[in-house]
Amino acid sequence: MTAVLIDQVGELVTNSPEHGTGKLGVLRGAALVLDGPSVAWVGAADDAPSADERVDAAGAAVIPGFVDSHAHLVFAGDRAAEFAARMAGQPYAAGGIRTTVAATRAASDEQLRANLRRLVGEALAQGTTTIECKSGYGLTVADESRSVALAREATPEVTFLGAHVVPPEFTADPAAYVELVRTDMLAAAAPHARWIDVFCERGAFDAAASRAILAAGIAAGLLPRVHANQLGPGPGVQIAVELGAASADHCTHLSEADVGALASSDTVATLLPGVEFSTRSAYPDARRLLAAGATVALATDCNPGSSYTTSMPLCIALAVREMRMTPDEALWAATAGGARALRRADVGHLAPGARADIVVLAAPSAVHLAYRPGVPLVAGVWQAGQRRQTLRVSN
Ligand code: NIG
Ligand code: FE
Repeated sequence: MTAVLIDQVGELVTNSPEHGTGKLGVLRGAALVLDGPSVAWVGAADDAPSADERVDAAGAAVIPGFVDSHAHLVFAGDRAAEFAARMAGQPYAAGGIRTTVAATRAASDEQLRANLRRLVGEALAQGTTTIECKSGYGLTVADESRSVALAREATPEVTFLGAHVVPPEFTADPAAYVELVRTDMLAAAAPHARWIDVFCERGAFDAAASRAILAAGIAAGLLPRVHANQLGPGPGVQIAVELGAASADHCTHLSEADVGALASSDTVATLLPGVEFSTRSAYPDARRLLAAGATVALATDCNPGSSYTTSMPLCIALAVREMRMTPDEALWAATAGGARALRRADVGHLAPGARADIVVLAAPSAVHLAYRPGVPLVAGVWQAGQRRQTLRVSN
């Protein structure tokens, strides 16, 4: 295996407090060594061991690759007209999902695969080295099963979301759709998936349906995560915590009891500020969650309806500007927080033994991710020790 030394790092964020200062474990004047797919060494540049190859970071900041723990990337078509109408005053509604369902069902495997690859490539070029991907735009046994199979080609973090919305052909009998999801659809999807998710929301799935579907998924060996409390208050967060879900996602409308439940559990509160940006609605109260002691993650929720972005740097900028997270809190949430939300110990941090997922920024400090919004600062990406295609920007 070839060892690579990344030298002259102006600011190295390890997310490992034993290797640097603060919760981000920051080292200045640092270096790190990658050996094959893993990080072998981090420390002061002056103490760096020799390696087969040396990369001069020239004073740039280096951070762990982003962990985008919530995305919906298997779909066809777009909803630009719906977005334009929304910006002209129309409200966002869960029913828009059905537009994408129709386009997805009509698409070939090759079209879905090409779109998925394009989006994963976009995300990688912006520093995302781990991405979760949900089904949920097929909503038949065959279309959900091909959606999770396609997602599995792109990432191991695959989520079965047959319970995204009740499809039009079941409008007269939603209970029959819930039954289909928890039996035949789950059986077809489970071999390709790690996670099960439910959109627990008025207009989608109520508490009883959500519990029934999540319980069936858990019985089939999947781990739960929940779309919770996005459009209004509801039972989603309580169900997520009660089932030991890895994550409750959105968390926009929370009661005191919801905040308390998240704070005293292992369930991560995953905030998706691209949604509030793109639906022009009020952001979740990140400060309230952080003050209570909840673990917060940031993710894109990339999907063609409520948040058509693959950019974790944009989510960091929004979290800082609009949700009053500090730049450090937002960076941690987009890396280590995402890893917690996916129950992954190997990513989201840079210490010996961690996966070598590394982003070199065209900036001297990671604060620039929020300070220079919209600027392509990702200058280099390694994923599991492999140098990946990068944006061409000068430091
Ligand atoms: O996470 N909340 C449910 N699903 C997506 C929206 C999907 C869509 O509008 O197509 C979300 O926001
Ligand atoms: Fe979502």
